[in-house]
Amino acid sequence: MSIWKQLYAMVWLAFLQIVLVTVDVPGFKQHLVYGHTTLGLVIVALAHYNNMQIKKTNAPNRLKRIAKSTAILVTIQPIFGVIILLDLMFRLNVPLIGVITFFHLITALAIITQVASVATAYDMWEEKEYTSSKT
Ligand code: HEM
Repeated sequence: MSIWKQLYAMVWLAFLQIVLVTVDVPGFKQHLVYGHTTLGLVIVALAHYNNMQIKKTNAPNRLKRIAKSTAILVTIQPIFGVIILLDLMFRLNVPLIGVITFFHLITALAIITQVASVATAYDMWEEKEYTSSKT
């Protein structure tokens, strides 16, 4: 698959990932959380793959840096996620779970912001669209 498609796929998967835990369908909560966990692993793999692929191109270094920092953020995310998951499944009453959930949430927002910016900028760079449409 071409890189720009993979980058846009990340945007929509991250979006779906947030939606999965935001919607509240009675009786389906557990399935949604498991779906969220599975999709989380797909996102981790894709973020690292995208980072590897973009590194091989002549794309501007700024894009490479954002793709790399996104891969790092996405790797941190399951650490918070697994703690939240274990706390939910086994009612562990993990101390500061609210703070951990907050970090999971703001990391998610950082991820979706970063993936959207890289996808658009990379696509524009590949298509040589950085000139004004008025000229
Ligand atoms: C393997 C990785 C991940 C695991 C195990 C995981 C697990 C969880 C769990 C168990 C919850 C709590 C659900 C609930 O209380 O109903 C949660 C919430 C959430 N997750 Fe994840 N997650 C992972 C990756 C991600 C990623 C990659 C994103 C976004 C890009 C994300 C975004 C969120 C958001 C926005 C919430 C809602 C937080 C809140 O309640 O305020 N998660 N996650």
